[in-house]
Amino acid sequence: MARRVVVLGSTGSVGCSTIDVCRALGRDQVEVVGLAAGRRWEALAEQALSLGCREVALADEAGAERLRARLEGSGVGVHVGQDAARGLVERTRPDVVLASVSGAAGLPAVLQAASQGARLCLSNKESLVVAGPILGQLAASHGAELLPVDSEHSAIFQALQSGSTREVKRLILTASGGPFRGWSKERMASATREQALAHPTWRMGPAITIDSATLMNKALEVIEAHWLFGVPPAQIDVIVHPQSIVHSLVEFVDGSVLAQLGVPDMRVPIQYALTFPRRAPLETEPFDLARIASLTFEAVDVERFPAIRLAYEVLRRRGVAGAVFNAANEVARGAFLDGRLAFPEIVATVEAVLDAHGRAGPGRDTTAPELEQVLEADRWAREEAARCLRR
Ligand SMILES: NC(=O)c1ccc[n+]([C@@H]2O[C@H](COP(=O)([O-])OP(=O)(O)OC[C@H]3O[C@@H](n4cnc5c(N)ncnc54)[C@H](OP(=O)(O)O)[C@@H]3O)[C@@H](O)[C@H]2O)c1
Repeated sequence: MARRVVVLGSTGSVGCSTIDVCRALGRDQVEVVGLAAGRRWEALAEQALSLGCREVALADEAGAERLRARLEGSGVGVHVGQDAARGLVERTRPDVVLASVSGAAGLPAVLQAASQGARLCLSNKESLVVAGPILGQLAASHGAELLPVDSEHSAIFQALQSGSTREVKRLILTASGGPFRGWSKERMASATREQALAHPTWRMGPAITIDSATLMNKALEVIEAHWLFGVPPAQIDVIVHPQSIVHSLVEFVDGSVLAQLGVPDMRVPIQYALTFPRRAPLETEPFDLARIASLTFEAVDVERFPAIRLAYEVLRRRGVAGAVFNAANEVARGAFLDGRLAFPEIVATVEAVLDAHGRAGPGRDTTAPELEQVLEADRWAREEAARCLRR
């Protein structure tokens, strides 16, 4: 029987790839019953009509009237507002939720999916960074499966099919190094928006592309890996691998190292999360090792990319530190994209907000926070980051 699927963030980079995968799998395997987006109401309407899905959710009130007019008479239900994506999951009761909203805005719908015991295919890594233990407990108590969509975590998940997490010596996350891999600190100081958006190997949405340039994306992934696989921070490493062919590796206690390789194509981890434990055929670029010729690896330069150091500091502090880290990054990255902040100041702002939180922020002594404490820390960090930007 077909799995009933809801795609959150369907108009984005991962969302569109997910729709492609669903179309290719066919309606006998996957029935898309709901779609949620932020602002792009036209793209959302086209997706809903072409897939014949029953309900859509749009966060942005400004597009509501035009979306309703476009879908009038089609039988597609329209829901609008910041809570619309969560409500969509609640009403449609899907078997599978593919969560690809970007940022902490994706959290409420992700928690809703976990509380309904759905299979949660998680691209929205921020949910785990912000509320890892809360999400993990909710999923465990309602029997929800948490499957990674991030290519690195999918690689680790696939390698872990041949050994348990108790047998893991080390998780090794690969990082392309981003567009500024070989740049000096001095040169990075004047990096432009266009240079930061020119990722060498992956085509992605703007937020994650800037995070790949600062290596904040890898920092978020270290935290994501910790909550997803339950492996202590000291056993999670990052290595730079510019070709983005080895998607990540697991070193087991017996010295065996398993890696997952493939051309960089997000449809591969998306489809694996949707069809797991089975694999389905997928047309990708040929995997030609002779053409790739060499796979290279180098250590991360934490001096030039301090985001990686901060990830381990966040995991040491636990509690609400992940929420503070992510929220400060969302604000600082937005300021860089708007031309209000120099590139190195993104991570410097995140560090300043983390430091300020350690001194006097809300919930800084909490080790097992409630959701409300996490959300309060998120709000506080956004205000503190905005204060830092004004200074
Ligand atoms: N892109 C990749 O290759 C990749 C790889 C691994 C992991 N990820 C992760 O996947 C997530 C999405 O990344 P992306 O690159 O696909 O981002 P993106 O292209 O910017 O897409 C984000 C999606 O979220 C929607 N959205 C934003 N706010 C929303 C809200 N409040 N309610 C409902 N929908 C909302 C956007 O809608 P509108 O566009 O209509 O405003 C869009 O559909 C991020 O967490 C990212 O870290 C991405």
